[in-house]
Formats: sequence, structure tokens, C-alpha cells
Amino acid sequence: MQQQAYSVLVIDDEESIRRLLEKELSNERRAITTAADAVSALTTMRSHWFDVILMDLRLPDVSGLDLLIQTRELAPHTEVIMVTGHGDIDIAVEAMKLGAYDFIRKPFHLDRLDLLVERAHHRVQLARENDRLRHNADNSLQSVRFIGNSQIISEIQFLIKKVAPAKIPVLITGESGVGKDVVARAIHQGSPLSVSPMVVKNCASLQKELARSELFGHVKGAFTGADVSQEGLLSFAHGSTLFLDEIGELPLEVQASLLRVLETGSYRRVGEKEERTVDIRFVFATNRHLQEEVEQGRFNEALFHRINAFNIHVPSLRRRKEDIPLLVDYFLATLGTDQIRYRVVDSAMDCILNYNWPGNIRELRNVIERSIILAENGMITERCLPGELIESAETEGSALSLESIEKQHILKLLNAHGGNRQKTAEVLGISRKTLYRKLQQYSIS
Ligand SMILES: Nc1ncnc2c1ncn2[C@@H]1O[C@H](COP(=O)(O)OP(=O)(O)OP(=O)(O)O)[C@@H](O)[C@H]1O
Ligand SMILES: [Mg+2]
Repeated sequence: MQQQAYSVLVIDDEESIRRLLEKELSNERRAITTAADAVSALTTMRSHWFDVILMDLRLPDVSGLDLLIQTRELAPHTEVIMVTGHGDIDIAVEAMKLGAYDFIRKPFHLDRLDLLVERAHHRVQLARENDRLRHNADNSLQSVRFIGNSQIISEIQFLIKKVAPAKIPVLITGESGVGKDVVARAIHQGSPLSVSPMVVKNCASLQKELARSELFGHVKGAFTGADVSQEGLLSFAHGSTLFLDEIGELPLEVQASLLRVLETGSYRRVGEKEERTVDIRFVFATNRHLQEEVEQGRFNEALFHRINAFNIHVPSLRRRKEDIPLLVDYFLATLGTDQIRYRVVDSAMDCILNYNWPGNIRELRNVIERSIILAENGMITERCLPGELIESAETEGSALSLESIEKQHILKLLNAHGGNRQKTAEVLGISRKTLYRKLQQYSIS
């Protein structure tokens, strides 16, 4: 795991110790903040994110154990190291039971303390990594490839490259199956945040009543059933990318709070008064027409303008058919068996190119996956394609070349007349000779 920058809060009433630790523990990855008592420590903790807290057991205002309990409540993701004096061993053990990471006795060796802080941070990092992975789609670890050589796709690739390192929110729009997830992952991968997994949430899967809590977290007793305090997705995504898919489905009540996070970088857990700050890169996706949703009063207008500031629209596959051959090759190479070289015969490729792909790339992928199974010796023929592709090739003449329409029409009539060429020529209104020429031209025997 790559080492990340993190912050440490030192709580001690002795100024000399605060100064010593501030100086000795800080390094290029570690930022140190200090507090002299519990009250100021809690205030700082509410507005700042700390990974590790070094807490003196004996404080002027409240006992270290009380402060520990409040810290666990306020910032459950933080590891606490207790600093104890002589004869405090019982309390130190008590602190461990209450969830402290470890304790260190005064006077301490700075080296040991340094190591302890480092280890505590490692644990924080692991725990957050797990939280993120739990909220990430299965294929998150695969590196994404955004395939396509059409002009439109090159432009999108250019936009991704430009916007990825910037921290601004991005809205990805487009029909279902066009590759919005792929774009979101590519943005995360191209950003400095890619050392952490991206946190993904599909807003359509949020339960209406719990949406706010799931996003922002809640404190114990905030509502019936809130038996323990809980962190929300924003907390898991701190320092990384939060991909909110199907943003159009987010309940209206929660949209205003999300807008606040985007504007101020701060939020409140449900039932909590104090705000906390987070550092998150937001990516949104939707297949809805959000402008219309705004007009219908179903989407917060200010939020729409905020997230629409950088929009990447992924066009449907039927508008960029020139990408199809490359995508087909890509899927054949990635979905097929290594030992077999697959080939799509021309007539099958015609069907693929002529179809209008309502399910976009997802549908193309499924069709190729199916055709691989049906292929013989790696040859993908029309027989390996689903019926709707063949039918549409027959009916959707508009997308076909004049020649292929003619060929299909001749074939159809020949079939209808049991192969009788004279009849077929009559129906077509051409001479037998012309028909023979055409049969030769189209290699129909
Ligand atoms: N340009 C691309 N290159 C390679 N694979 C792609 C590309 N675009 C999409 N895919 C693949 O197509 C499938 C559908 O893509 P994706 O899930 O990103 O669509 P989506 O727009 O998010 O759809 P939905 O609106 O239903 O969530 C996935 O298997 C994805 O890997
Ligand atoms: Mg998607």
C-alpha cells in the first residue's frame, strides 16, 4: 500500500511537550496539530480530519478516558494513542478496552512514539481502504480501457486527460450502456487520488428514508434505529473520488445538502450540529435529462448547475459506428479463449454494423460474448448472432448499402419461389440475363 499524507492531533496540557512533539513528529507526510485541553481538542476535531490522535491521559478539564469516549463517537475512523504517566497502568488498560490503539508511558523515546504513530496510521489506512473496497464495484481493480477511435471518442479521451488531475466535479451523461462507468473510472485513474480506491454508490439503490444517513452518516440516537453512530460514504471517500451514479435518483431533500458539500466542502452527520470538512473529488453520472428534471421540479436547479459545470456526454453507439470494429476486436481478445483466434465473417460484421444497438456497448459486449460460445473454429458467422440483429439487418434497410439491399431482396425472392430464376426475374421486373449477372456479382449460386 502506498504511503499517504496524514494528520495527527497532539493533546497535552504541557506546552513544552506540545512544542517538542510538533517539531519532532512532523515530516513531509505528517502534519501535526496541537490542543491544550479537551474542549479545544473537540472543537478542532469537529472541523478537521485526523488520522491519529496522541492524547494525554491527564487533562485539565476532563479525564482522558472521557475524551477518548467522545473521540470514538465523533471520529470513529481515528486511532487514538494514550500517553500515560507512572501508575496509570489500570487506566491505560481501560483505555484499550474502550478502543484506544495503544498507550505509551512518559517519559517516552521519540523513536518509539514515531513508530507507534506510523503503525496507528497504517491501521487507519487499511480500515479506510476496506471501507472503500466494500463500496466499490467488483471490477474496480481492473484497469479500465476506454476503447474507440472515432472523433467523438478521441475528444472524450482528451477531456478525461485534462479534467482528471483537476479536482472539479464532473457530470457524465449518456444512454444506458454507453460507458459512463468506464469514463468515471478513467477519470479517477488519471487523478492523483488513484492511490486510493474510488468509492462508488448508485443513488437508485439508496433507500429514500436512509439516503441522507448513508451519505453523511449519523450519530447515535439521531433517529429510531440509530443505535450506534455511523460514518457515511462521504467519510469513506475522504481523500479519494466519490462516484455517485444515477444522480437523478437522489431524493430531492438530500440534494440540497449535497450541494452544500460541493460548495463548502463541509457536511453534518444526521443528528449532529457541528460541521466537518472533507476533501473529495466528485464524479456523477446519469442517463436522465437533468435539465428536464429541473424543469419538472424533480432535481435541484442549483445542484444541477454546479455539477453540470464540466459535462462529458458519451454518445450512443449508433452515432459512432466507426468504433464498432475496434470494440469487437477488443471484446474478442478479452472475452475469448487465449488459444483461439476469432474472426467475424463479413456478412456477420455487416449485421453488427447495421444494427442500431439500443443497449449500446453493454449489448455489443453481450452479443460478442454469446457469439464466442457459438463460434466454430473461431469463425463468427450470422448463425452466432441473436435473431434481432439478423432481423434488423433485413428490415432496417435504411442503414444498408443499396447493393446489400438488392442482394437480400434477390435472395428473399429466390427463396420464396423455390429457386426459380425465371419467376424471380419476372417479379423483379428484370430480364433473366440481368438476374444472372446480379447473381454472379453477389456470388449467389
Ligand atoms: N469505450 C469502451 N471501451 C471498452 N469497454 C467499454 C467501453 N464503453 C463501455 N464498455 C463496456 O460496456 C459495458 C457497459 O459500460 P458501462 O457500465 O460503463 O455503461 P453505463 O453508461 O455506465 O451504463 P448504465 O447507464 O446502465 O450504468 C461495460 O462492460 C464496459 O466495460
Ligand atoms: Mg453505469
